[in-house]
Amino acid sequence: MNEDVQTQTPKNPSDWVRQILTEAQAKIQPNPWAMILATADKEGKPSSRTVLLKQFDEAGFVFFTNSQSRKGRHLADNPFASLTFYLPTIKKQIQVEGKVAMISPSESDDYWQTRPRESQIGAWASAQSRKIPDDEEFEERYGGFEKRFADSESIPRPAHWNGYRLVPTQIEIWMEGVHRLHRRYSYLRKNGSWCVSRLFP
Ligand SMILES: Cc1cc2nc3c(=O)[nH]c(=O)nc-3n(C[C@H](O)[C@H](O)[C@H](O)COP(=O)(O)O)c2cc1C
Repeated sequence: MNEDVQTQTPKNPSDWVRQILTEAQAKIQPNPWAMILATADKEGKPSSRTVLLKQFDEAGFVFFTNSQSRKGRHLADNPFASLTFYLPTIKKQIQVEGKVAMISPSESDDYWQTRPRESQIGAWASAQSRKIPDDEEFEERYGGFEKRFADSESIPRPAHWNGYRLVPTQIEIWMEGVHRLHRRYSYLRKNGSWCVSRLFP
């Protein structure tokens, strides 16, 4: 580890990530907190897709999805995953690696209750990542759940719709530099504290 870096860069990457996410929120539209989530199946075969970051703090990065989707099945078999935020407008990238765990049902309920009713019905209607047998199937399913919940003031969260938290063990921040002299700061969590190194770009 380079001692220099410790004096010039934040010791804790969470503070820096928070700063970058706040900057992204101010300058990027739409979806400033879109991130690429890479997972792998039990044989290690990878796949990736965009999801939205919904909460971030010292504990990790929280997103929501269908647990029966491909990514949900991957995470049930293999909790290791990575996240990448590509933020061209602010000339930065954040890469995160770690282990993913489902958040508690009450935490998922709290976020579920903030979602618009239409999105809640959509979550019931979408068998995410499964084949749709014909064009009308999704709309018909949506209509069916609309009817089912017509008399319910609040719609319950389906058991298959959950929040997940990636707890980071590695965070890398990349900043664009002139003449391709980009800067990379790699943070590694060891025994509960973070060590930072500079990497060649
Ligand atoms: C901008 C954007 C945001 C998205 N956000 C989410 C999300 O937060 N949760 C989710 O399950 N899918 C989200 N999706 C859809 C996923 O990219 C993906 O198509 C879906 O989750 C199925 O992925 P899977 O079959 O690999 O599980 C988003 C797609 C886009 C383009």
